[in-house]
Amino acid sequence: MKPEILFLKQEDTIAAGAEDMKMTLELGDKAIKMWAKGTLINPTKVSMSLDDHGSFFVAMPTYVGGEDDIAGFKWAAEGRQNLGNGLPLGIDVTVLSDPYTVLPKAFLDASLITAMRTAASAALGAKYLCSPKSKKATLVGCGIVGRYAVKAVTLAVPFLEQIEIYDLNIPKAKALAGEFKDNAIPVTAVESLEESVKTSDIIITMTTAQKAFMKKEWMKSNATIVQMGPCDFGTDTVMGADKLFVDNWFQVSKSKLSPVHELHEAGKLNQEDMTELRYVAADMAAGRDNDDQQVMYVSLGLGAMDIMIAHQVYKNAKAMGLGTIVNLWDAPKYV
Ligand SMILES: NC(=O)c1ccc[n+]([C@@H]2O[C@H](COP(=O)([O-])OP(=O)(O)OC[C@H]3O[C@@H](n4cnc5c(N)ncnc54)[C@H](O)[C@@H]3O)[C@@H](O)[C@H]2O)c1
Repeated sequence: MKPEILFLKQEDTIAAGAEDMKMTLELGDKAIKMWAKGTLINPTKVSMSLDDHGSFFVAMPTYVGGEDDIAGFKWAAEGRQNLGNGLPLGIDVTVLSDPYTVLPKAFLDASLITAMRTAASAALGAKYLCSPKSKKATLVGCGIVGRYAVKAVTLAVPFLEQIEIYDLNIPKAKALAGEFKDNAIPVTAVESLEESVKTSDIIITMTTAQKAFMKKEWMKSNATIVQMGPCDFGTDTVMGADKLFVDNWFQVSKSKLSPVHELHEAGKLNQEDMTELRYVAADMAAGRDNDDQQVMYVSLGLGAMDIMIAHQVYKNAKAMGLGTIVNLWDAPKYV
């Protein structure tokens, strides 16, 4: 038997729905609800930093039960030297495996799926935690994740009246706003982050900043704050929030740059001080308690979402006849 692996390059994944934000939001939501209910296994990811190379790698295994019944593994990586050098910051691949024979079924580019699910994760945080009276969102960081986040927030929080976007690179923010000139919620690029945030109900950061730059005093007392970058907010914002949420406590509390990690190390914050969003999504825990609370959500990303989405992309690709089949061996040497 020659085990067949479907190899999907990035273009194949796009043709199979990797840039479909509606699908990504639905599957991301399904993944966190399944995880809350115990029908999906999402072990804490393992990270390896190569500081002298300016890079890091993350191993993220997942098993999705139910009708999916698939095991998968995302090997995520970021190379800071790629910035401005013609390569994406993040380059990820995923392997999908049969959970019984353990044979790999697919090997695919997961870079876009990662950016899409990160944007979806931010938007789901906003959806589950924001006040229904929210009118304006400020999205900070207009890179790949920021681009997808405009679409994700538009779909997940459709009652918003305004989206403002900001980037240190102001022409980049203006160009992105131009791409969304016909968006269902008007999108405007702003030049003053402080002015935008001061009147914003939902603030989402997706930047590559390596130290906190978002000021606690800018934020409304009932804002919904979502941090997707490593350290956009300081420990004062975390401690000042009325209610705290994370995607995965063990990941966030161990992430060296995270303000949650710093506070945990200092003995000021523990697991019982926060709720994992999956329980809010599955109606097993409360989100914000009222419209006056300031709530904060810190997310570092879940393999659960990656594998759930990658599996759907694989199934779509197979049905469409996309990709290239490669064999793991002609005949295994030992059986
Ligand atoms: N939480 C997760 O699940 C997850 C997953 C993937 C990536 N990320 C993180 O999301 C961030 C964005 O990733 P990306 O692929 O979009 O990167 P990118 O390089 O495509 O874009 C980052 C953008 O942030 C901007 N920026 C940097 N510092 C800023 C600041 N102080 N103020 C405003 N804008 C600033 C840059 O100009 C750039 O446009 C990265 O930090 C990445 O590590 C998080």
